[in-house]
Amino acid sequence: MRPISYLAAPLWVVQLASGAKSFRANPLLGSAWLNRRGLHAVRVLLARMMAERRRQRLAGYVGAGEIADYMRDGFVVRRNFLPPALFEAVRRDLDAHPLPSWERREGATVTRRASLDRPDIAGRPALAAFLDDSRIFDLMRYVAGCGGEPLTHVQTVIAEPDPSRPDPQNTLHMDTFHSTAKAWLYLQDVGPEDGPLLYVPGSHLMTPERLAWERDLSMRASHDADPEIAAGSFRVDRETVLRLGYREAVAMTVPANTLVVADTHGFHARCASARPTHRSELYATLRRNPFLPVTGLHLHAMPGLRGRLSARQALLDGLLKRFGIGGPWKRVAPTCLADPPSI
Ligand SMILES: [Fe+2]
Repeated sequence: MRPISYLAAPLWVVQLASGAKSFRANPLLGSAWLNRRGLHAVRVLLARMMAERRRQRLAGYVGAGEIADYMRDGFVVRRNFLPPALFEAVRRDLDAHPLPSWERREGATVTRRASLDRPDIAGRPALAAFLDDSRIFDLMRYVAGCGGEPLTHVQTVIAEPDPSRPDPQNTLHMDTFHSTAKAWLYLQDVGPEDGPLLYVPGSHLMTPERLAWERDLSMRASHDADPEIAAGSFRVDRETVLRLGYREAVAMTVPANTLVVADTHGFHARCASARPTHRSELYATLRRNPFLPVTGLHLHAMPGLRGRLSARQALLDGLLKRFGIGGPWKRVAPTCLADPPSI
């Protein structure tokens, strides 16, 4: 490490109390010495305790069946989620009218996200009605164990079956060290060959074996050859999943208009596609500082930001690119669902 890097040392300390997860980027988080003494394990347990407290306050917004499903499995599946007429209207709209879009490539897979910012969907009542339906967002807040405003897009996954160009999303993993929520409302049927979501039921629950596994990995993660592990997104194989006492992963093969909301601290993956796949979903994510004592005070929910987050992200991307540190997402021409990838 260069001496000038130590100017960032105060930030490394502050990040201990944040959602920062990269063992490589923060020498404190990545310290084998500290993690042997339990730094990572303490962050996991403290984040878990805080999430449980916040989740109790959010439980009044979701049904008893959803709570039971989440507690048992770490995910909730609801078929026929939108009223059929609204679902068809959403599909027709997205088939016919383009939205501002970004794409990124991982191996042989291109993921496209299209903005559902309020200014971008002006005059499109079906999309507005979807965003006005609070059920999906209330459920996400409960699953993530935090309040706040989920970031919502139309997501299209375009995958070629090509083992020579692996997609890191095809490996079972946890996104980070604490509860976060992701939601998929599928716009078409998802069969076993269409790259469905895989999830290990119950893997959102912390067991002594899981905690020991995470602690062990945390001691060497900063130098792991897998950049995803070094960045704090631990990968796991099937044998380890079973050794940790969890069940076999299940594939979410579901009909169109099914909602899946999952806690992505649990082990999950996108199945490798067995055939060329072009699949779209209404997609939302929610991740906040896991140590917050409150459920409110989310920057994304502030007037001027709420419902305009994709535009802000685009602005930020433009600024970062100007300094030569652009992220993986590339702005492309506005797209409809069936458009081919541009990158
Ligand atoms: Fe993930």
